[in-house]
Amino acid sequence: MSDTATARRLRFEIFRYNPEDEDSVPHTDVFELEETPFMTLYIALSQIREKQDPGLQFDFACRSAICGSCAMMVNGRPALACRTLTADLPESIQLYPLPTFKLIGDLSVDTGTWFREMAEKTEAWIHERLPFDPDATEERMSDDVAAAIYEGDRCIECGCCVASCGLANVDDTFLAGAGLNRVARFMMDPRDSRSDAEWFDIVAGDQGVFACIGMMACEDVCPKELPLLEVYAYLRRRTLGARFVAKSDRAV
Ligand code: FES
Repeated sequence: MSDTATARRLRFEIFRYNPEDEDSVPHTDVFELEETPFMTLYIALSQIREKQDPGLQFDFACRSAICGSCAMMVNGRPALACRTLTADLPESIQLYPLPTFKLIGDLSVDTGTWFREMAEKTEAWIHERLPFDPDATEERMSDDVAAAIYEGDRCIECGCCVASCGLANVDDTFLAGAGLNRVARFMMDPRDSRSDAEWFDIVAGDQGVFACIGMMACEDVCPKELPLLEVYAYLRRRTLGARFVAKSDRAV
């Protein structure tokens, strides 16, 4: 939108509900404001909260697509409020909280509990079996492996992939894109000594990669454009190999 163009009047329909207040009833409120150049949803929401409704709840911290706290449903699609330009949206904008996560109030959800439970379930930390030796020489790692690990670490845990996942919406134990990406990140780390058979136990079953029904909305909505399809293929290759070895061992 250029400075000389006639500014649009944006209409925001925003979900409101405070689960802590027994008198609160889920509903939507409508707010209107004039669009300004390079306005993001974060800027629009801040203006609404400053000038129209100081009680409006939504989350943000970094305002630059790094902290992952401002994710919400924007016209039915998960997105980061700080990264979404209103110019890319129609004049009528519907904002709802992310599904799957516990609602705190209005557009604010608790993603932290989901991500902590996922990290505990998958033991998302380096499992080193050698005793700690402070005098040992640091192990070398190839540039390719380091780059692959870094790629997985780019996830900002915003929850967009979880919210977009049909399976995660009906089963909150499903690891979804963020959880499976986290598993793959440790699986490819040579400092983690877990065997492929142990990884199989983590990603098999109803909560793991074989339960994914392949809609791939997770990859479509990921604001960091993580290659989740490749991540799932990697997990399946590694763990299926371990399964076949285990089966042939039992057959002998
Ligand atoms: S405010 Fe940090 S990602 Fe949007």
